[in-house]
Amino acid sequence: MKKVIGYTAGVFDLFHIGHLTLLKNAKGLCDKLVVGVTVDKLVKYKGKSAIIPYEDRAEIVRSIKYVDAVVPQQDMDKIAMCKKLGATLLFVGDDWYGTEKWQKYEEECAKEGIKIIYFPYTEGISSTKLTEVIKGEKKVHNPQKKHLNDK
Ligand code: CTP
Repeated sequence: MKKVIGYTAGVFDLFHIGHLTLLKNAKGLCDKLVVGVTVDKLVKYKGKSAIIPYEDRAEIVRSIKYVDAVVPQQDMDKIAMCKKLGATLLFVGDDWYGTEKWQKYEEECAKEGIKIIYFPYTEGISSTKLTEVIKGEKKVHNPQKKHLNDK
């Protein structure tokens, strides 16, 4: 039987439980999970910044047992990447559900036979929140992660 290839992409800065849960769920629905890790240049272009450099972020994601391969995400064109990889499933957290960007992706994906799967976003944690904590701008709200507030 033909192997199902799935694709997901993200910055994966300061790798956290939300990232892990997404990758675990994704691998549960495909035979081969390919992850696009956003290169530093594109992170900047998106108006964001990553604390951990691309090479380290890619190596961390590559080492996760649910991940079969990592590719550099050089541009925003996720559909072109799916086509290149032969991926028929595209995964993302549901924080993107209903956004203009992903509604457009859905239309394009439908034409290409690619299905978008939204997984529940893990509330209470994000790279942005962790960055704020590191910079001392914020205390973590999630009581389960209150150890991050110590010191
Ligand atoms: N994600 C998730 N739950 C979280 C954080 C991220 O499910 N708490 C998912 C996103 O929806 C995306 C993937 O993980 O599909 C990679 O997202 P990324 O942008 O790297 O993670 P964030 O921690 O949300 O980063 P930022 O705060 O910079 O937006």
